[in-house]
Amino acid sequence: RRVVEPSIVRYFAWRGDPVARWMRPQSKGDPYPLYEDIRRRGLVRSSLGPWVTASHATAETVLRDRRFSSSPVHQRGYQPPSFPLGDPRAELPAGDLLTLDPPDHTRIRRLVSGAFTPRAIAGLEPWIRERAVRLLDQADARGPEFNLIDAFAFPLPIAVICHLLGVPAEDQDKFRAWGHDVVTTLEPQTSRAARHHSQASEIALAGYLRDLVAKRRSDPDDSLLSALIAVEEEGDSLTSAELVSTALLLLVAGFETTVNLIGNGTVALLGERAQWDRLCKEPELISGAIEELLRYDSPVQMTSRTATEDLEVDGTVIRKGIPVIVSIGGANRDPAIFAEPGRLMVDRPEAARHLSFSLGIHHCLGAALARLEGRIAIEELTSRFPGLAMAGTPVRRPLLVLRGFETVPVRAAA
Ligand code: HEM
Repeated sequence: RRVVEPSIVRYFAWRGDPVARWMRPQSKGDPYPLYEDIRRRGLVRSSLGPWVTASHATAETVLRDRRFSSSPVHQRGYQPPSFPLGDPRAELPAGDLLTLDPPDHTRIRRLVSGAFTPRAIAGLEPWIRERAVRLLDQADARGPEFNLIDAFAFPLPIAVICHLLGVPAEDQDKFRAWGHDVVTTLEPQTSRAARHHSQASEIALAGYLRDLVAKRRSDPDDSLLSALIAVEEEGDSLTSAELVSTALLLLVAGFETTVNLIGNGTVALLGERAQWDRLCKEPELISGAIEELLRYDSPVQMTSRTATEDLEVDGTVIRKGIPVIVSIGGANRDPAIFAEPGRLMVDRPEAARHLSFSLGIHHCLGAALARLEGRIAIEELTSRFPGLAMAGTPVRRPLLVLRGFETVPVRAAA
């Protein structure tokens, strides 16, 4: 879908405004020089309203400070959405873990996190590996060239999250289209038509999950969804609306990001052949290499927080109601933390200090699962196809918040 570029963005970009420059379509290919520029200027205020930081230390301060909120309700001038009677958008879940503040956030996160303990996740390894091998068998059988995203990087995480939630895997193609649309709502600038399209997909997905919740209420199985329906702790349980918003977030967060860890990671490694070859010869490095791949080209490039009171950060006063955009991709390339940050080094000792899973109360709930899927994907790819090579130019999705590829043509060779 075409991204509209408002003339105000063009104007401020021309004036050198960092956020406006970042929002321009042409920055999306390689935003890293822009992040460097922002970092050099410290905490900067955009003429478009928010502050922005690409410094690791400042990002850490903002993400850990509970006086900054993820909820849009604290933004100056916030208007709650209001829809005409009967408008299906009124049925959309009002908020999810990502945008809730304590105490609701604490309560829901506590109820959900039981399913994501390291032990529970580690138990999924045989299932994920078997699925990864099967997908590569199918890709191999189709011929020496395939699109890594369609054949592997996308179907693996969606199969995993569908398996976990107890969602029929045959619906996964539908989810891909819905998920792609839903994540465009995270983008700061989309056309009205695109916004409507995204909302229509969100309504369809929420409706699908609402039906599934109803079905599982009367006919429970051993899935995460049934466990979430049954969960009750200290008298707390999830309401129906919370169940739908949590399932929707888990489903979309479960595949729209991990696909990019596998896709971006493979492209980065094939672009630095010596690093790929090293993983083929020393597979014990793969676990650590996943941290470096997450750092080097993070699937989630930015998040934001809003000051709930007047606050001072790095000697700068951030007024109540003003958002701070945290450039995760920029923090991950901060030379104060990462030596030669533009270089991919699979054995980089400080790689795990990346902020790709964020920090503080919203730290990614699925981090252990994403790491496991990433490790299995790279282990299976390197062991089966050490001679894997690019077979064309990969095509990026033109997004600002999520960073990944639509197509990655590869040629498989053992
Ligand atoms: C939150 C990144 C995979 C579920 C987050 C946040 C980031 C992130 C940056 C926090 C955003 C913020 O602070 O504003 C990633 C990346 C992934 C990944 C890079 C893959 C490489 C997953 C998976 C799942 C998942 C596989 C679920 C199965 C969640 C949930 C939250 C979250 C539920 C909200 C947590 C909260 O607000 O308390 N993720 N994620 N993520 N992620 Fe992930």
